[in-house]
Amino acid sequence: MITRREFVATSATAAAGLAIGPSGAAAAPSPTSPVSRFARPCVVASSNGIRGVKVAYDQIVAGTDTLDAIIAGVNITELDPDDQSVGLGGLPNEEGVVQLDASCMHGPTKRAGAVGCIEDIATPSLVAKAVMDYTDHIMLVGDDARRFAISMGFTPQNLLTEKSRQDWLRWKARLNPNDFWLDHDDDVQIRFTTGTINMNAVNATGDISSVTTTSGMAWKVPGRVGDSPIVGAGQYCDNTVGAAGSTGRGESNIMTCGGFLCVEFMRQGLGPEQAVLKALERVVATTQARLMGSNGRPFVDLQFYAVSKDGRYAGGSLYEGPGFAVCDERGARIEPCVYLYRQNERPRRG
Ligand code: GLY
Repeated sequence: MITRREFVATSATAAAGLAIGPSGAAAAPSPTSPVSRFARPCVVASSNGIRGVKVAYDQIVAGTDTLDAIIAGVNITELDPDDQSVGLGGLPNEEGVVQLDASCMHGPTKRAGAVGCIEDIATPSLVAKAVMDYTDHIMLVGDDARRFAISMGFTPQNLLTEKSRQDWLRWKARLNPNDFWLDHDDDVQIRFTTGTINMNAVNATGDISSVTTTSGMAWKVPGRVGDSPIVGAGQYCDNTVGAAGSTGRGESNIMTCGGFLCVEFMRQGLGPEQAVLKALERVVATTQARLMGSNGRPFVDLQFYAVSKDGRYAGGSLYEGPGFAVCDERGARIEPCVYLYRQNERPRRG
């Protein structure tokens, strides 16, 4: 067991962008899976995790626990004020408040933690891990998650950067031409993001972990919780099979339990590439008619990322285009996702 004081020191070190120590509390020492004949370390993530996969991979080959390593990987982007998809600088909800979701799973010890709709804490991935390490629960939400984080030593801060605040004001002004807000900067494109980094890793002994962190959909209804903190949707990990997670429209993923489904397809014998494609087919099959174009293709997009226990990996997307980040013995790189549909098949609304 490490003490709470030690955990706080660990979190502070991670928040400074430095390597974090071994997995805390109930994680020490973790039962390790028998050495797989085929195990090869590999970290796979959404493309915005490209810096993180390298950090995570280097830590894993140096012996760091897989979950600690991938959380260190996503912390880089969570703490980057210029990234508007997760953590500090994430795009806010419709009231201008940044609300974050995250979850994680530690395969060797069969544990999970999550936080939903947490405010003021830049690294919800670490708070999710604190829920896992220090409570007998899996998910905490809202103000109580914030208070839990503060009690664990996390420092609250304003997560709405000036750039994201300006984007929110522009979005608000352009919502309705008949309101009393004057539109300005008409030439500035307002970003919309479904945010999110998912990162999954396996080490040389076949131990596996997964983490997903997000600021969620930009301009969401306050209190909205997406797929990222939902264990089995935003990410899922089974130390005997592999791990998978998602980015994109969370509501579509929740309807398919996508992280779990990818892992279940791998359990049935599919490789990661076939698994993510089959899960995407399920997403289409469960999409409501109002979200489908007349050509039978969804308006929305969604991605899955998966790694198997033997170190195979894949990224898959409904629509052609996004790449995914991977790091293994060949180094960190972006590879193209497999996909169901070409971009020119994507219907436009209205
Ligand atoms: N996939 C992130 C979200 O929808 O919140």
